[in-house]
Amino acid sequence: MGNTEWGFSTEQVHAGIRPDGGHGARITPVYLSNGFLFDDFEQARERFAGETEGYYYTRYGNPTIAAVERKLAGLEHGADALAVASGQAALTIAFLTLLQQGDHVVSARSIYEGTRGLLREDFARFGITATFVKDPNDADSLRDAFRPNTRAVFIESIPNPRNDVPDLELVSAIAHEHGVPVIVDNTLGTPFHVRPIEHGADLVVHSTSKFLSGHGSAIGGAIVDSESEYLKDARADGHTVTNETFTQKARSLAGRFGPTLSPFNAFLLQHGIETLSLRMRQQSGNALEIARWLEASPAVASVDYSGLESNAHHANAERYLRGGYGAVFAFTLKGGLPAAQALINQVTLWSRMTHLGDVRSLILHPASTTHIHLTADELAEIGIGPGTIRVSVGIEDAADLIADLEQALAAPAA
Ligand SMILES: Cc1ncc(COP(=O)(O)O)c(C=O)c1O
Repeated sequence: MGNTEWGFSTEQVHAGIRPDGGHGARITPVYLSNGFLFDDFEQARERFAGETEGYYYTRYGNPTIAAVERKLAGLEHGADALAVASGQAALTIAFLTLLQQGDHVVSARSIYEGTRGLLREDFARFGITATFVKDPNDADSLRDAFRPNTRAVFIESIPNPRNDVPDLELVSAIAHEHGVPVIVDNTLGTPFHVRPIEHGADLVVHSTSKFLSGHGSAIGGAIVDSESEYLKDARADGHTVTNETFTQKARSLAGRFGPTLSPFNAFLLQHGIETLSLRMRQQSGNALEIARWLEASPAVASVDYSGLESNAHHANAERYLRGGYGAVFAFTLKGGLPAAQALINQVTLWSRMTHLGDVRSLILHPASTTHIHLTADELAEIGIGPGTIRVSVGIEDAADLIADLEQALAAPAA
């Protein structure tokens, strides 16, 4: 895939790149072709049997998608990868490849609400249940969550939006004690800040819609496979080829369920990844500067950013994150809901938007948007109050972003 001797910026440009057959195109072109011709009867049979490399139908593989899969596997120092239509599709396919009716997942409580809803509501309808652990860094409470039917553990490398960074090695060790794989959503960490596989994770899941693509223009997702021993009993084995890797099983399942990444989005993703380190350095650097400024502001009650020395999760952030602490975090205003409303309404440079990892800075009020269906108790449990604001910091100049927050905080509530 890649070359583990390379520095990150070299890898992000060169990992997974193969000269394109025939025309010598430097960048794998967009192959907007649903199907691929077979030379003869025998080649058609071989492709369907999985006996030779090559493509037959884009829902099962495509050269543009394959180029970005190789790049992602290389950057995460994994063995293989599957790209799909969205981050939610990646999570769904990862879980469904590992699980069947009657199985159980142990998950951190502090995760993206879409994933929690998927586990808690949608999978529950099909007999797959989940236990959400408030503090997965507490070994006893994590161990207590396991049941005889537990088949996977799920965490986020930088939880959205609380930044309560998990102890990746502790969580992986406890999962492996129970013989089950760990899935890490590395959307907010990105391989620039952390490679979960190096700390024991078995699968890494991404919403590539965010930092990897970077420009807010291409929804996509991916699963990176470590091919570890804990993935050997993956459940999705309802077809004829045996001894398959996790990715081969997941690719078959994705072919059946159908969340295919558009080759055009794969091409945009490939472009985005080539500048990931430049954007992450700037965005995470800006985020630290803004978090420090907010921490010193008299209008702010608390800042949930793991890069701050005062943050309860700073030690884990220092241990696992390189080159910065990410660019998504939450802070809470002393003035509660009226102050939050005023801030959101008064910003002019920040975009009011539910998205993350864009080159543009984004701002949102979780309690009235992404977390609107939660009860007051549930919100309190995950530290989201009426005055909590989530930001995703972009590549703009930090001074301009701070000046906009300053004027918005100073403006009288409407
Ligand atoms: C951490 C995390 N994982 C997964 C997703 C889902 O990704 P997508 O929107 O690409 O389906 C999101 C979306 O916000 C996210 O923040």
